[in-house]
Amino acid sequence: MIPRHVAFIMDGNGRWAKSRGLPRHAGHKKGADVLEKVCDRLDVLGVKYASFYAFSTENWSRPDDEVKKLMALLRSMVKKALPKLIERQVKLTVSGDLFSDKVSKAGREATLDAIEKTKDLKNGTVNICFNYGAKSEIVHAANLALEKGLPITEETISQNLWVPELPEVDLVIRTSGEQRLSNFMLWQSAYAEIYFTDCLWPDFGDDELDAAINWFSERKRRFGGL
Ligand code: FPP
Repeated sequence: MIPRHVAFIMDGNGRWAKSRGLPRHAGHKKGADVLEKVCDRLDVLGVKYASFYAFSTENWSRPDDEVKKLMALLRSMVKKALPKLIERQVKLTVSGDLFSDKVSKAGREATLDAIEKTKDLKNGTVNICFNYGAKSEIVHAANLALEKGLPITEETISQNLWVPELPEVDLVIRTSGEQRLSNFMLWQSAYAEIYFTDCLWPDFGDDELDAAINWFSERKRRFGGL
């Protein structure tokens, strides 16, 4: 059984870099390469929706230089990915507040350009969670629903999330040995299976991804029933 929507908490970049005597940014850079390779493998496996936690609302508290380099990485990663997304007919979406003043103009513009150029593509979706927090996403969705004069229901919240067309998350994968959700896609992951691995994100490859998908395929999903 192949999951429809897999969501990744890409953790361990800093530790990966530190263990090699490299600056933290080297871990993020390698992490961006891994993100691209994971998308290649998901395409082969037939997973149609993938979400990646690239920058949380809590990450603003990191040193300025690290934040700046993550902004630059967003821009370079999106620019590099765009031709491949178009070739594969895959849409790029972003969950999170791209319009915040704190997000770099260059990162925002490159990302909006890729979102616009891929918006009608139908062969899958790569969703980058950037300046993202799940609790604020839910509050934002509720406020949007109210502004539209809608009652607050599960349906109206779902329809007003950052990327409403994303299906529920089937599988969350968190690397680096930490076992928590860290404010990531809490609404969409209500019934997700959660897979934790000690592997650091920059070391995450096809074998680790296949192991997670195999583990998922053996789960009995009951959605609260028997
Ligand atoms: C967590 O590892 C990782 C992040 C905060 C950033 C994840 C970003 C990427 C994988 C690259 C793609 C990036 C963009 C911007 C599109 P950590 O730094 O907390 O690692 P540690 O726990 O070992 O310190």
